[in-house]
Amino acid sequence: MVVAPSLYAAPLLRIGDAVRAVTDGGADAVHLDVMDGHFVGPISFGNLIVQAVSAATHLPLDAHLMVSNPVSHLPWLADAGVRGVTIHVEAFEGDQVGVIEAVREIRKRGMRAGVALKPATGVRAIAGLVGELDHVLVMTVEPGSSGQPFMRAMLSKVSEVADRFGHDIEVGVDGGINASTAREALDAGARYLVAGSSVFAASIEGVRGAIDALRTSE
Ligand code: DX5
Ligand code: ZN
Repeated sequence: MVVAPSLYAAPLLRIGDAVRAVTDGGADAVHLDVMDGHFVGPISFGNLIVQAVSAATHLPLDAHLMVSNPVSHLPWLADAGVRGVTIHVEAFEGDQVGVIEAVREIRKRGMRAGVALKPATGVRAIAGLVGELDHVLVMTVEPGSSGQPFMRAMLSKVSEVADRFGHDIEVGVDGGINASTAREALDAGARYLVAGSSVFAASIEGVRGAIDALRTSE
């Protein structure tokens, strides 16, 4: 399993301490939620923060793009040394060719390619992408904020994605993941856990314990 803490849930003015805590605390990757204020309401991290995080950790960085024009962000993400980029299929408003081109562009720039599915989006949206993808991120909350409750109804989607594509594609979940919901997601076939508030809610000092709790949920 892969544990990827979401820095979006970390105290912003202690972002450096948060990066150190997840690096020293045994995380496998760092999840960076890039929001443009358009695809979702908030604006979160841009190039400067991502570059600074990249310089501060040896962990792989995975960017989750909640933006309306994902392709325009790929050059700076590649320059920042990001390992993986996950785009939302909904940003393409039904333009399947646009999604395929974007996914190819991610790989062309040397990064792992992922797509994220909002809760209302069905698995059909990725049917034409087999062979093009490294990662599928099933949103288990509506994207846009941390601290929302896990949507248990998404477990059947996780199972469907895992059953159909899990041998070729890493299946992740994002939203409301704690030690208890992690167990349910893992049982459903997820292997990649994004966790924000359950990792950072208590304190920076509690990060290692929270990561351990996710890992031992298996
Ligand atoms: C939500 C983000 C998540 C968020 C998760 O839009 O994609 O990565 O930070 O936070 P929790 O784990 O608190 O739901
Ligand atoms: Zn995310």
